[in-house]
Amino acid sequence: MKTILVVNAKGGCGKTTLSTNLASYFATNEFNTVLVDFDPQQSALEWLKERNKDYYYEIQGLSPFQKRLRFAADVERVVLDAPARVEGKQLADLVRRADIILVPVLPSPIDMRAAATFIKELLLTGHAEEKKIAVVANRVRENTLIYQQLNKFLKRLKIPFLASIRDSQNYIHVAEAGLGIFDMPWYLVSHDIEQWKPLVRWINRNLDD
Ligand SMILES: Nc1ncnc2c1ncn2[C@@H]1O[C@H](COP(=O)(O)OP(=O)(O)OP(=O)(O)O)[C@@H](O)[C@H]1O
Ligand SMILES: [Mg+2]
Repeated sequence: MKTILVVNAKGGCGKTTLSTNLASYFATNEFNTVLVDFDPQQSALEWLKERNKDYYYEIQGLSPFQKRLRFAADVERVVLDAPARVEGKQLADLVRRADIILVPVLPSPIDMRAAATFIKELLLTGHAEEKKIAVVANRVRENTLIYQQLNKFLKRLKIPFLASIRDSQNYIHVAEAGLGIFDMPWYLVSHDIEQWKPLVRWINRNLDD
């Protein structure tokens, strides 16, 4: 079983979008997948309710608010969708559970500064050092020049800047149906799938069973 944590203290940067699409990627690649929603708003589990009505590539949902987290022996991939404003002990607990950590960041100077601070905090938990951490630029409109500064900071820490996910209505449309882009016919989302390739490659390389 391998666990991917999607986390950033900043609200609205795409943690749930990244988590649900990642879960959709694993499920459509026939991994036995569990999505754990640590956000009290439970939006990832709402998404799952829609999905599991009649869809073939099922994902199991778990809420840490209902019961202690237990995973069946045959679970292969676990995606942890973290809440906003996570810090301190809760952050340390989440990090301890993860094999790899993804930090989505929006393309604004404020968000990037906040991300740099958050990554320092992540490393200070003392559990993140040996984990693989990567940053994903989300809702990118044009070029990624704006990320150069954050990139410099990440380079110093040897943290890769993996993918730029564009701002696309596709994410909103598929989410309404409880789906991710990987559940869609390729020709409808080919541009988005293309953008996920470096991320997916990195994840698979780092989760080699
Ligand atoms: N790449 C994208 N293109 C278009 N819309 C996006 C994209 N990523 C996220 N969104 C939209 O932005 C909003 C916030 O995204 P999301 O809920 O994934 O963020 P979050 O980090 O989980 O937020 P919170 O901190 O509240 O949990 C949602 O309405 C989502 O549909
Ligand atoms: Mg969320």
